[in-house]
Amino acid sequence: MKRFNRFAVPLLGAAMLGVPLIVTAQETDPDTGLVMAEGWETVRDNCTACHSANLVTQNSGTRNHWLSLIRWMQETQGLWEFQPETEETILDYLAEYYGPKEDTRRPPLPRTLMPDNPYPTVADSG
Ligand code: HEC
Repeated sequence: MKRFNRFAVPLLGAAMLGVPLIVTAQETDPDTGLVMAEGWETVRDNCTACHSANLVTQNSGTRNHWLSLIRWMQETQGLWEFQPETEETILDYLAEYYGPKEDTRRPPLPRTLMPDNPYPTVADSG
């Protein structure tokens, strides 16, 4: 029992604190949740002044998607203009780490697995 405790106590403690025991490849900033990779501080400094970083980290899309979001905020939400290099850094970062989530889409269900349509269709009502 004595021998066992030495290992069990710290492990249990870590589990109770919710400390992830599996090390993830991408380190994230504990304050914002942003992936800590090249350009992340620029994004933190420019993209968390008006709203939570969650809006950023929960969004995803192509570079164009991010660019149009930035333009939209600039035109309608009072977002400032960026120096071209700053904008590049932000877009590179967002497109790389918050790019389109292709692999989370599932293919559509085949018709045979779908429930019956409860509404009369044109063909039925004829
Ligand atoms: C000057 C203020 C301001 C700054 C700075 C700002 N935003 Fe926003 N952003 C807004 C406002 C206002 C909204 C709308 C919030 C809402 O719908 O509640 C918004 C919404 C968003 C959304 C959600 C859009 C949607 O489809 O719902 C994303 C994503 C976003 N911002 C990303 C960014 C990024 C990336 C940056 C940095 C380049 C940034 N924001 C900087 C004001 C700002």
